[in-house]
Amino acid sequence: MRLLELLTPLAALAATASAALATELVTRKPLVESNKLRRVLLRSNLLAKARTLEGFAYATTERNRLIGTPGHNATVNWIYDTIKSFPDHYTVSLQPFDLPSGTAKGLIVHIPNLACDESDFPADLTDKVVLVFRGDCQSAVKVAYAGARGAVGAIVYNNVEGNLDGYSLQRLSTPEGPYVPTGGISQADGLALIAKLDAGEEILADLNSVTKAITIYNINAQTIAGDQDNVIHISGHSDSVAAGPGINDNGSGTISILEVAIQLTNFSVNNAVRFSWWSAEEEGLLGATYYVSQQPQSELDKICLMLDFDMMASPNYAFQIYDGDGSAFGESGPPGSAEAEHEFARFFTEESHENHTEIEFDGRSDYGPFLAAGVATGSIACGAEGIKTVEEASMFGGVAGVAYDVNYHAAGDNVDNVNMGAWIVMSKVIAHMTATFARSFELLPPKTEEAKIKRMEVAKRISGKATGKIWGV
Ligand SMILES: *[C@@H]1O[C@H](CO)[C@@H](O)[C@H](O)[C@H]1NC(C)=O
Ligand SMILES: *[C@@H]1O[C@H](CO)[C@@H](O)[C@H](O)[C@H]1NC(C)=O
Ligand SMILES: *[C@@H]1O[C@H](CO)[C@@H](O)[C@H](O)[C@H]1NC(C)=O
Repeated sequence: MRLLELLTPLAALAATASAALATELVTRKPLVESNKLRRVLLRSNLLAKARTLEGFAYATTERNRLIGTPGHNATVNWIYDTIKSFPDHYTVSLQPFDLPSGTAKGLIVHIPNLACDESDFPADLTDKVVLVFRGDCQSAVKVAYAGARGAVGAIVYNNVEGNLDGYSLQRLSTPEGPYVPTGGISQADGLALIAKLDAGEEILADLNSVTKAITIYNINAQTIAGDQDNVIHISGHSDSVAAGPGINDNGSGTISILEVAIQLTNFSVNNAVRFSWWSAEEEGLLGATYYVSQQPQSELDKICLMLDFDMMASPNYAFQIYDGDGSAFGESGPPGSAEAEHEFARFFTEESHENHTEIEFDGRSDYGPFLAAGVATGSIACGAEGIKTVEEASMFGGVAGVAYDVNYHAAGDNVDNVNMGAWIVMSKVIAHMTATFARSFELLPPKTEEAKIKRMEVAKRISGKATGKIWGV
């Protein structure tokens, strides 16, 4: 008893001291630095997580991580649980949204050209089901143009080999027009339908194969530390297409940003860092589109820069930077996008000692809706179904005349498909950009009224034209 009495004040003293020490240690976490964050990004961690995602896909009969399936559900739950296990560092939320169900029946009308221009569509499509090409602009926009002219449904046929199961009858409406039920078919089936229609046949479409309404989730995690009004937003998407497990597309982006988020917990930040894992990218950027639609302008204004990462490990890779300054393809992003591109380029050249190429800032992945809302965005990728040129083979190695990812949107997009060397380079680029902007936004133009007006001008230009340029792939 007496001993205890004696000990208690000592123990209390010790406890106070250790609490003070702990607080000091927490506050003494080093401010994040690019090279320190890069150093703790390990191949072994990336690969282990790729195996986890592949496991989710292969544990299901569908062997994929398509939205609405157990493989995707397991992916979302796993990301959520992983990031939730750092409650001192991140505020985590699940953002649910509902995809409607629907059926449609009507005579098929083939829309010629790419169906990306309003003028490709006849004025009256009442009760018709349109048949459109996939690609070159977001499928949701093609569907909306048709819906605005009275069409009751849409069929999208693939622009590459393979079927388009991922094109379910589940869509969101867009500013161009209402949602109508949509289904996807293979390129061969699409061309066969067109041949029959061209020969004068009337074909009745009955879109009833996928009618299940589902709820899907974006995951958002934001550092508790850092200036909450000045945010660097880093994202990837959590779903795959139907054809396969989607480990390069885009398990790789999902995993890279998850690993960066985990490793970031050992550092302090000046600016808040937000990580998002979107759902339903493959159905037309639905998750990111929904997210942006739910943000008031005042919230969007807090995002100083949004960086999206997809296809980080293509087997026959090229290091591609999106043309944020418009120097290569003529269309620049909102102010800040050019500076982001320049920092990516500088890093590849000076730190990674790697070549890089530029690709069109076309809104093809989840940064598209942010671009169209006037948010500064940037992105890098390793290439999808495009073919590597001779020049690129001399710049990056690999095989000219072959796709960057021969398993793009295919069953073979599994752990064996990823190029580990490319993936670690890309992941370190992500770490660099995260660390750089978590420290400071000094590389970006100041957020003046003038800059805001310019952003709005770009947003207007893009939503008139380039929301139509967002690819639903
Ligand atoms: C997905 O996971 C959640 C748990 O987070 C569970 O409640 C739900 O039933 C699952 N849905 C499907 C379709 O598996
Ligand atoms: C943070 O650093 C400590 C000490 O080096 C280490 O044990 C821990 O695993 C690190 N945290 C993460 C998430 O890697
Ligand atoms: C960059 O590309 C050039 C050819 O354009 C090549 O000679 C060089 O080896 C490449 N550098 C690297 C690091 O791959």
